[in-house]
Amino acid sequence: MENTVIDVEFQNVSKYYGKEKVVDEVNFRINRGEIFVLIGPSGCGKTTTLKMINQLVPHSSGQIFVRGKNVTELDPVELRRSIGYVIQHIGLLPHLTIRDNVNFVLQLQRVPQKKQRERANELIKMIGLPDSYLDRYPHEISGGEQQRVGVARALAADPEILLMDEPFGAVDPLTREQLQNELLRLQKTIKKTMVFVTHDMQEAFKVGNRIGIMRRGQLVTMGTAMDIVNAKDDFVRAFIGREAVFSALDTIPVFQAIIRDCPVIHEGDAIDPADPRFKDWENVFVINQNGHCLGYVSLTDFKAHEKVTTEKLREITSPCLPSDSLKKAIGEMLWGKRAWLPVVTKEGNFEGIVSFQSCVSILALDD
Ligand SMILES: Nc1ncnc2c1ncn2[C@@H]1O[C@H](COP(=O)(O)OP(=O)(O)OP(=O)(O)O)[C@@H](O)[C@H]1O
Ligand SMILES: [Mg+2]
Repeated sequence: MENTVIDVEFQNVSKYYGKEKVVDEVNFRINRGEIFVLIGPSGCGKTTTLKMINQLVPHSSGQIFVRGKNVTELDPVELRRSIGYVIQHIGLLPHLTIRDNVNFVLQLQRVPQKKQRERANELIKMIGLPDSYLDRYPHEISGGEQQRVGVARALAADPEILLMDEPFGAVDPLTREQLQNELLRLQKTIKKTMVFVTHDMQEAFKVGNRIGIMRRGQLVTMGTAMDIVNAKDDFVRAFIGREAVFSALDTIPVFQAIIRDCPVIHEGDAIDPADPRFKDWENVFVINQNGHCLGYVSLTDFKAHEKVTTEKLREITSPCLPSDSLKKAIGEMLWGKRAWLPVVTKEGNFEGIVSFQSCVSILALDD
């Protein structure tokens, strides 16, 4: 994409602790408004990579650019101010109320009290908690709520970039899913660039626009959910695991798996089952002059050159949109006990079909 603005860029970045290279020649670019997920086993260098972005940890070699500026040439205080940080294990200060935790950075910046009050009210609403929580202490709210407060705190100074280190690590799966949904909803409105660390592949597929997989300090692969499930690397394949592949389907749109060359006829046309265009097909789709799909007919219902009549027309009961997820489409197929679904646009135009087979072939899991 030509107009993409790069918010964070790593060029051959390495980090040594003594002789140990904990981040090894890492390269990536994160686009404005994107959620970039870093994932990998414990100790692979995720937190270190995150902390080099805001220079809480200085890099040993290579170059790091934030919004086009080399971080070594920026004032570290300014840099950190423009980047929100949700630290691993929440890190709320136990002796401060939720309000003071949320406003911690604003207090340091000596933002006027009135502004701070307004911002705290705005943020607590944004993360879906009642106002009254602002006067509580961290031990008086649940773990999931604390994680939300961690996100609110990072957003307080309205940073351009948000770094999140396993922000939903310490909660049960249900709460976690809820927090992920809230994050995605929030992202739609605030449109921040986010770097999100996790070691949960399902979470990565769910929240990430792109995912980078790390191993022993190296970024071994990077790309969309599609790219990741198609990776050939044994480590990556083992790391993803079978269950997470299903989550990946949640982020892959149906249009990637549409079979577009299915046979189509216009309403009122006669059908010849021997027509070579219909070879290998059981059904033919019927469209009107505007390209709207009226239904389909089964070739077995036709003798030679017979007109399509309404009695023979079968209704399309559950079409999917090109933008629906493959997970939704496959769920619908299982629910309806059928192996394919028609794909129809919002305007009613017939695009083709999606089938189990077409989903499998784009995932290329059987090669
Ligand atoms: N201050 C430090 N001094 C020396 N070694 C460090 C320091 N901080 C981190 N390391 C080492 O660097 C490596 C990467 O650590 P990092 O915290 O980035 O891992 P991580 O991928 O975030 O792991 P986790 O999933 O457990 O949070 C580890 O081997 C760790 O022991
Ligand atoms: Mg970590």
